[in-house]
Amino acid sequence: MATDGSGPALLSLGSINVDVQFRIEHWPDAGDTVDVQRATESAHARGMSVVLDPAPPEHMEKRLYPLADILTPNALEAQRLSGRAVASAEDAGAAAAVLRERGTSAVVIKLQNGGCVVATAQGWRHFTAVPVPVVDTTDAGDGFTGALAVALLEGRRIDQAALMGTAAAAIAVGGYGAQPSYPDRSRLDGMFQLLQEANARSPG
Ligand SMILES: Nc1ncnc2c1ncn2[C@@H]1O[C@H](COP(=O)(O)OP(=O)(O)OP(=O)(O)O)[C@@H](O)[C@H]1O
Ligand SMILES: [Mg+2]
Repeated sequence: MATDGSGPALLSLGSINVDVQFRIEHWPDAGDTVDVQRATESAHARGMSVVLDPAPPEHMEKRLYPLADILTPNALEAQRLSGRAVASAEDAGAAAAVLRERGTSAVVIKLQNGGCVVATAQGWRHFTAVPVPVVDTTDAGDGFTGALAVALLEGRRIDQAALMGTAAAAIAVGGYGAQPSYPDRSRLDGMFQLLQEANARSPG
């Protein structure tokens, strides 16, 4: 992750990504009791792109929407935030539109079956997953959001970055625990390739 303040700030309302936390603690105006809300404001004020995982959704204050460039809720979080049932990709597209109206540029909703919906000013698109063995989903969502942010840092467009997140989650659900279940880069790239092929065959 970039350390000069130019890259995305990867933030979760439940916990602050360790790398970002290090930088936040060293920002002069951060103080000791910095929380994600203040980190979001601070990153936005510095012109950084902010990827915000709105979990738990109860902590997502309305004023944060315009400060976040990309929100990455799961389907249940998107449902709670938008007030709309999210049981399908179409529902997720509609819920994402509600969240975008509050000021966030893009919304990526992680679906329960492993796919995702990416919504931007251009509309929304559904990316499907491929069948994978599921052992434990702990932290798979954080793996998704982390891989998405890394892909954005690499200069990928948001739909490709979301597919990279989908790939990370698909592998993370296959192992127990959090970080031990995250893939190395070559495994991640292999799953990304698979997902690209699957979604080229059946777009949307
Ligand atoms: N059967 C599956 N195949 C592939 N991916 C799956 C499957 N089930 C869930 N996932 C993916 O795992 C991820 C779970 O993320 P979610 O945020 O819902 O989990 P969480 O319990 O909140 O964990 P975290 O603390 O990491 O956010 C999502 O990206 C979801 O699409
Ligand atoms: Mg989550």
